[in-house]
Amino acid sequence: MDPLQDPDANYLEINKANWDSRVDLHLQGYNLDKFRSDSTYLSDVVRFDLGRFPDLNGLRGIHFQSHIGTDTISLARLGATMFGLDLSPKSVAAANQLALEFGHEIRFIESDVYSAASLLSASHVDLDFDFVYTGVGALCWLPDIKEWSKAVKSVLRKGGFLFIREAHPVVWTLSEKREDGGISLEYDYFAGPGLLLSDEESYAGEGTVASPANVSFNHSLSQIFNSLWDEGFEIDLFEEHNSLPWRPWEKDFVLNETNGEYTLKDRPNRLPASYTLKATLKKD
Ligand SMILES: C[S@@+](CC[C@H](N)C(=O)[O-])C[C@H]1O[C@@H](n2cnc3c(N)ncnc32)[C@H](O)[C@@H]1O
Repeated sequence: MDPLQDPDANYLEINKANWDSRVDLHLQGYNLDKFRSDSTYLSDVVRFDLGRFPDLNGLRGIHFQSHIGTDTISLARLGATMFGLDLSPKSVAAANQLALEFGHEIRFIESDVYSAASLLSASHVDLDFDFVYTGVGALCWLPDIKEWSKAVKSVLRKGGFLFIREAHPVVWTLSEKREDGGISLEYDYFAGPGLLLSDEESYAGEGTVASPANVSFNHSLSQIFNSLWDEGFEIDLFEEHNSLPWRPWEKDFVLNETNGEYTLKDRPNRLPASYTLKATLKKD
C-alpha cells in the first residue's frame, strides 16, 4: 500500500525519506564554508542564544534531531562533549563526516527520538547526559509530545537540563494560501492528526527535494509545558521571540539586520515566531 494513504501510521518512513532527500541541498546552504574557515564559527541558531546558555564547558550533551550537525558542532565549540541523534541516515552520515572534517569528536547515531534510550544503550553510550539540546524545526515532526518529554528524561541525569530553541506553534498554524500571496490562519494549533504536505523546495540550498511529502504535528505551548511538568521538569527559562532563523514566507517576512533573523515585515510584534526554553530535571 502507498504509505501516503495512511500518513499517521507511516509518518516515520515518509519523514525519513523527506529528510534524507534534503541533505544534499542543505550541504550547500548551511554556511559550511564559514565553519571551515573559522574554527570558532557558530551556527546562527546557537549564536542567537549565547546569552541564555549556561556555561557548557566540560558538560556532556546530546542533540536530539541533530540533522547535518551544525548546531551540535557549535555546542562542541562552546566546550561541551557532544553526541547527536537523528532519524535520517543521510543526515547522520553527513554530520559524522563534517565533525571529522572540522576536527570534533562527536558521535552521531541514527535513531527515532522515541527510541533514544534503547538505541544509545545498545551503542554503549551512558544515559547520564548533563543536557539535551533541540534546535529549530524539530518538535513538529513528532506525533506525541508526552513521549518526547519521556525520551528527553530517559537520557538525562537528575539535575540535568533540556535547552530548546523552537519555532512557535502559532507559526505552524499559518500558510501562504491567500490569493494576494499573504499568510492566513490555516492549520491546527492544538495537537491532532498528522498534516501531510508536499514541499518541493527546502529552506536551505537550491534545488528540488526528491521526496517532497512530509508529515508534521503541532503541539500547543500548554501541551509542551504540561508534558515537561508531568515528567518532573522545572521550567527555569522561557522567552518568546518575534523572529525566526529562516524566512518562512517571501512576501511577509524580512531580514532584521540587528539580530540576523526574519520577522514580519510590518509590525513584527504581531507574531510570536519562536521561543527559547530551558527546563531542569528535578533531583527528587
Ligand atoms: C529541521 S531539522 C533539525 C533542525 C536543526 N536545527 C538544524 O537545522 O540542523 C529536523 C531534523 O529532525 C529529524 N527528525 C525528524 N523526525 C525525527 C524523529 N522521529 N526522530 C529523530 N529525528 C527526527 C530529521 O531527520 C531532521 O534531520
